[in-house]
Amino acid sequence: MEHHAAFEHISDLLTLPEVVETRYQMHHSIPKHDHLTRSVRMSYHLGRLIRADIRTCVRAALIHDINSRFGTLTTHGRVAARWAAEQGEDEAVCTAIESHMYPLGPAPVSREAWVLVLADKAASLGDIKQFILGLFDGSSLANRRRLQQSDPYYRERPRRRLLHRLHVRRSHHAH
Ligand SMILES: [Fe+2]
Ligand SMILES: [Fe+2]
Repeated sequence: MEHHAAFEHISDLLTLPEVVETRYQMHHSIPKHDHLTRSVRMSYHLGRLIRADIRTCVRAALIHDINSRFGTLTTHGRVAARWAAEQGEDEAVCTAIESHMYPLGPAPVSREAWVLVLADKAASLGDIKQFILGLFDGSSLANRRRLQQSDPYYRERPRRRLLHRLHVRRSHHAH
């Protein structure tokens, strides 16, 4: 478990099933949970720097990409914000989540929303760095293979490819 000061504000969220299962979901070729907790740490530091509300910043950061598969690049902020609202999160948290993809999608309207926009982008660079460093000892590719097995989104892909192939072959025979 992480001992960063930011995690005091999110201990209740870390045990939610939707957050726990991000350990088994792929995001930027690494576990989505790593991206979310990196976003939390970035938000904590940026939030302090510009004197934003830290609790709002780090709660928004942890859940900003939950259920992102149910949206597109521009709409998944709204999907995650809706989920946050259903969990009873403050409006300030939901507002910050909704605009995290700026300049794709809506523009940030609060200090905390700006923190998340910047923290998410910085965390994404950290995700890429984590993946590249892990190429040297083989851990990145092993983790990616593991995630392809555990992530339902990727598990279904080979089946889709197979169906496509079968369909092509069948239509080929018909002619
Ligand atoms: Fe996102
Ligand atoms: Fe993100």
